[in-house]
Amino acid sequence: MKLAITGKGGVGKTTLAGLLARAYAAEGRRVIAVDADPDANLASAIGVPADRYAALTPISKMKDLARERTGAADGFGSLFILNPQVEDLPEKFSVEHQGVHLLVMGTVDHGGTGCVCPEHTLVRRLLKHLLFDRRDVVILDMEAGIEHLGRATAESVDLLLVVVEPGQRSLQTARQIERLAADIGLRRVVFVASKVDGEADRAFLAAALPADRFLGSLSLNEAIRDADRLGVAPYDLGGAMVGEALAIKTRLDAFSVEAAPCAR
Ligand SMILES: Nc1ncnc2c1ncn2[C@@H]1O[C@H](COP(=O)(O)OP(=O)(O)O)[C@@H](O)[C@H]1O
Ligand SMILES: [Mg+2]
Repeated sequence: MKLAITGKGGVGKTTLAGLLARAYAAEGRRVIAVDADPDANLASAIGVPADRYAALTPISKMKDLARERTGAADGFGSLFILNPQVEDLPEKFSVEHQGVHLLVMGTVDHGGTGCVCPEHTLVRRLLKHLLFDRRDVVILDMEAGIEHLGRATAESVDLLLVVVEPGQRSLQTARQIERLAADIGLRRVVFVASKVDGEADRAFLAAALPADRFLGSLSLNEAIRDADRLGVAPYDLGGAMVGEALAIKTRLDAFSVEAAPCAR
């Protein structure tokens, strides 16, 4: 399963990514969780201890590694290898916690900026490798934009999961994302709501989202805010959000099989 999670800032993407990563790992699956948001904070949602996270360098900051792998010589305009070897990087540069291997990408190249420096080449190639060659569960926690995924990478994503909250603004962002997704060849877009509180919210979401692709909700839950404040993973607090995440996971699994009969 290759899952990319996106949506408006603050809707609950990272919280959901952390819950799902831990839920897949608890099932015995090998999970690679990729923090692809420049404002990286997936580690705490997974529960990676702060000292272990502090020792981790984002891939995009590894200039020497990027130069070595791409064969780039110093200096502007030098030629370098565009498909550097990356197969060993997930093991070497991830931190493992409760069966989840966390990789932090750092700032990723945004399409159209024209920058093709070795670091960006390495990050792009690594993303493509994770999504295309790997048999693991790969969960990408992204920012709202999906442009930087690029067509080649996007084609290997099984599902683009857009997180929304009950409100017009995050739905507007979701619609923009859906249009962009179609542009880069990503057709399987599903929705999950977070911070859902009561009947009015549920009715609003049911009216706004396509029923067949609305795969579940996380309720507005004090415990999630408590977890954030205490610096622990929501998954480790147990409670309603874990049950809700498991229900979402079940629907994701069913959906990805239905949508892709030949899925990896
Ligand atoms: N279902 C929820 N109930 C209550 N608080 C939530 C919920 N989901 C997320 N939050 C809180 O909202 C804030 C943003 O969540 P986060 O997952 O970091 O969003 P994003 O990754 O989309 O920016 C955090 O403080 C988080 O604890
Ligand atoms: Mg986030």
